[in-house]
Amino acid sequence: MRRKTVPIFLTLWAVFVQLAFAGFHNGGVGECNGCHTVHRAPSIQAGTATQSGPYLLRGTDQGSTCLNCHSANQNLPSYQYISTPESLMPPGIPPGQMTPGGDFGWLKKNYTWTSGQSVLTDYGYMHGHDIVAADYRYAASPVHVTAPGGTYPAASLTCISCHDPHGEYRRTVNGTIVSSGLQNACGSGSYESSPDPTTNCPVGDYRLLGGAGYSPVSIPGFPFTSDPPSAVAPSNYNRPESVTQTRVAYGQGMSEWCANCHPAFLNSQPNTSGAYRHPAGNGAKLGFLANNYNAYVKTGDITGTRQTAYLSLVPFEEGTSDYNILKKHARSDDSYLVGADENSNVMCLTCHRAHASGWDYMLRFDSSFQTFITADPAGQTAWPGTDIVGDNSQAMGRSSRETARTYYDRPATKFTPYQRSLCNKCHVED
Ligand code: HEC
Ligand code: HEC
Ligand code: HEC
Ligand code: HEC
Ligand code: HEC
Ligand code: HEC
Repeated sequence: MRRKTVPIFLTLWAVFVQLAFAGFHNGGVGECNGCHTVHRAPSIQAGTATQSGPYLLRGTDQGSTCLNCHSANQNLPSYQYISTPESLMPPGIPPGQMTPGGDFGWLKKNYTWTSGQSVLTDYGYMHGHDIVAADYRYAASPVHVTAPGGTYPAASLTCISCHDPHGEYRRTVNGTIVSSGLQNACGSGSYESSPDPTTNCPVGDYRLLGGAGYSPVSIPGFPFTSDPPSAVAPSNYNRPESVTQTRVAYGQGMSEWCANCHPAFLNSQPNTSGAYRHPAGNGAKLGFLANNYNAYVKTGDITGTRQTAYLSLVPFEEGTSDYNILKKHARSDDSYLVGADENSNVMCLTCHRAHASGWDYMLRFDSSFQTFITADPAGQTAWPGTDIVGDNSQAMGRSSRETARTYYDRPATKFTPYQRSLCNKCHVED
C-alpha cells in the first residue's frame, strides 16, 4: 500500500504544481471537472470540494465554486488568491492578498472605535462588492437592493456577475472582442507575458470579464452593453508593494465596463450631465491636471517629474488600446514609472478597487473625514493604528499593520507625517 500511495501522491502534487504555474482557465474554459461534478467525486484541481450545487457545481453556489480555488490557505499573497478566510485574519491581522482587484476578506473586517462620547463602527460590508458565496460565508449587501446608479440586483451579485466562468470572450488579432465563431483562446490575454493573438489563435479578454451581451443563464435580464477594458497586468501581480509597485497598464474602457451595472456613474464631462458625479471614462481626460499628477510626490513636495510620477494608489488609464504599448508598461519592478499626460483618463479604478479594499466604498486610499492619512508618534511617520500611541479615532479601530496593508504594505515614510488625502495627486489643493 505504502509503495503505491507515494507515487500517486507525487503525481497529484506534480499536477497541482503544473496547474499553479501553467494556469487553469488559460484564457478560456478550464477543465469542466474543476467546477462541475457529475457524480460528486473529488477533483484534483478543486481539492476535496465535492459539494454539488446548481448546474452540478462543486459549491453550494456559483461564487463558492470559484472560491474552492481562489480562497487562500495561508495569509500570504500568492498567485490567484483573492480571498483570505476569517480563521487566518483574527482581529488586528489584515487579509493577506494584495492583487490589483483586492482581497474580499476585507468584507469581513468590522471596526469599532470611540470618538469622544460616541462609539463608531465601520462595517465590513462597506468595503467592497458584497458577493454571494455561502460556503465561504459571503452574503449579499444588507444596504443596497441594486447597484447604485443602476438596476443590477445586489442579491445576485457573485463572481460570475463580472467574470464569465466559461471564458467565452476573446481578443482577436485585430483587437476586437468576440464571443462566438472562433476557436477557444490560446491562452490568457491578461499579462505582459501573454501571447499576442494570431489569426487562428485569439487570447482571453482581460481577466475573463463578461463583454457586450454577457448575461449568465441564472441571472437573466441585465445583459452588458460594453466590452471589457483594454488592460494588461504584470504576471507577478499578487505581492506587497513595500519595495516596488505593481503597475497594471490600464488602457481604456474600464469605466464604461463598470457602467454595465452603474450607468449613472459614467460621466465624461464635469457637470454637463446634471448628475454631478466625478468625471470618469474614456472622455475624462486629465488635460492640464496631468502636470499636477506628475509633480505631486507627497504633501509639501511637488517637485516630482513625469519619469517617476506613477503611483499605483492613484492609477489612470493611458487612453489607448494598443497592447504593444500596454505590455511594455505592466511591470512589478519599478522599471516603468512614467506618469500621466493630457490624454490620460480618470477612471473608476483611479479611486476604487474592483473587488474590495480596507476602506469604505472599496476606495484605494482613506478618503474619510480625516485630515491626515498618516500619523506622527514620537516624530516618526507611521500608519495610524490602535497599537500606536496617538489619536485613537484616526486609527478607526485598525491596527497599524491593517492600515499598512490597505496601502499594500508601503512604508508610511513614502509620505509625510501630515499626509493629506491622495485626491491631491491631481488636485494639489494643499
Ligand atoms: C479548479 C481551480 C479553479 C477554479 C474552480 C476556478 N479557478 Fe480561476 N484560476 C485558477 C488558477 C490556477 C488561476 C491562475 C492561472 C490562470 O490564470 O489560469 C486562475 C485565474 C483566474 C483569473 C485570472 C485569469 C486571467 O487570465 O487573467 C480569473 C479572473 C479567475 N480565475 C476567475 C475565476 C472564476 C470567476 C471562477 C468561478 C466561476 C474560477 N476562477 C474558478 C483556478 C481556478
Ligand atoms: C471556472 C468554472 C467552470 C468551468 C471550468 C466550467 N464551468 Fe460550466 N458553469 C460554471 C458556472 C458557475 C455555471 C453556472 C452559470 C450560471 O449560473 O448562469 C456553469 C453552467 C454550465 C452549464 C449550464 C448553463 C449554461 O451555460 O448552459 C453547462 C451546460 C456547463 N456549465 C457546461 C460546462 C462544460 C461542458 C465545461 C467544460 C468544457 C464547463 N462547464 C466548465 C462554471 C464552470
Ligand atoms: C464587480 C465585478 C467583479 C466581481 C463581482 C468579481 N470580480 Fe474579479 N475582477 C474584476 C475586475 C474588474 C478585475 C481586474 C482588476 C484590476 O486589474 O484592477 C478582477 C480581477 C480578478 C482576478 C485577478 C487578480 C486581481 O484581483 O486583480 C481574479 C483571480 C478574480 N478577479 C477572481 C474573482 C473571483 C473568484 C470572484 C468572486 C469571489 C470575483 N473575481 C468577483 C471584477 C469583478
Ligand atoms: C455585474 C454588475 C456590477 C459591475 C460590473 C460592477 N458593479 Fe459595483 N456594484 C454592483 C452591485 C449590485 C452593488 C451593490 C451591492 C454592494 O454594495 O456590493 C455594487 C456596489 C458598488 C460600490 C459600493 C460598494 C459599497 O460597499 O457600498 C462601488 C464603489 C462599486 N460598486 C464600484 C464599481 C466599480 C469601480 C466597478 C468596475 C470595476 C463596478 N462597481 C462594477 C454591481 C456591479
Ligand atoms: C475621483 C475618485 C472617484 C472616481 C473617479 C470614481 N469614484 Fe466612485 N466614489 C468615490 C468616493 C470618494 C465615494 C464615496 C461616497 C461619495 O463620496 O459619494 C464613491 C462612491 C461610489 C459608489 C457608492 C455610492 C453609493 O450610493 O453607495 C459607487 C457605486 C461608485 N462610487 C461607483 C463608481 C463608478 C462606477 C465609477 C466610474 C464610472 C466611479 N465610482 C468613479 C470616488 C470616486
Ligand atoms: C487622476 C486624477 C484625479 C484624481 C486622483 C482625482 N481627480 Fe477630481 N478631477 C479630475 C479631473 C480630470 C477633473 C475634471 C477637470 C476639472 O474639473 O478640472 C476633476 C474634477 C473634480 C471636481 C470638480 C467637478 C466639477 O463638476 O467641476 C471635484 C470637486 C473633484 N475632482 C474632486 C476630487 C476628489 C474629492 C478626489 C479624491 C476622492 C479627486 N477629485 C481625485 C482628476 C482627478
